[in-house]
Amino acid sequence: MRIDIITVVPDLLKSPFESSILKNSIEKGIVNIVIHNLRDYSTNKYKSVDDYQFGGGAGMVLMVEPIDKCISKLKSERNYDEIIYLSPDGEKLNQSTANKFSLLNNIILLCGHYKGIDQRVRDNIITKEVSIGDYVLSGGELAAAILCDSIIRLIPGVIGDETSALTDSFQDNLLSSPIYTRPRDYKGWKVPDVLISGNNNEIDKWRMEKAIEETKKKRPDLN
Ligand code: ADE
Repeated sequence: MRIDIITVVPDLLKSPFESSILKNSIEKGIVNIVIHNLRDYSTNKYKSVDDYQFGGGAGMVLMVEPIDKCISKLKSERNYDEIIYLSPDGEKLNQSTANKFSLLNNIILLCGHYKGIDQRVRDNIITKEVSIGDYVLSGGELAAAILCDSIIRLIPGVIGDETSALTDSFQDNLLSSPIYTRPRDYKGWKVPDVLISGNNNEIDKWRMEKAIEETKKKRPDLN
């Protein structure tokens, strides 16, 4: 999978891809992340990519031209399945969307900044808008990193244990069951006996019951 990320603050997108699972996925050649500095597509000598909004009002707006130039160049090189704008107005990211995106080959993520982007980009270039939650961030970069993480970990070969991603919370609209590791007894806080019983049927049954119980208690809206 190839993910092109367009941003005015490329440095913000460095560290998420330099550690752990995302770094390994790149090193294994499963994912190719290409970060583009929107300023490289500026059409003026000051390298500016934003301007005041027509009609007045606070906040600068990312201009249509550099965005169009950057995305047109990418589209001339390969086909893209989605061109996604990260925005609090977008469709809220959930596990099912992440599952769908993980099956795509090439996507572009456009990060907003300042007040936002010229509406003509949304009307004519973007194919989807995605929000990571009902709150406003300073820009789309951290949201893009979260979206990438949620997608990449689902791609076969990225997580060592193939079944691991499938047993995560939300995969079947249930939260995950409680998990424990050694020691069996810490300060009298004990691991449930069933998990040490060696009876796999009983363990599966217990995990399912706990997942249902946890979901009802913490996220009744998921049912
Ligand atoms: N940009 C600013 N806030 C955002 C959010 N909540 N989700 C996605 N992109 C954003």
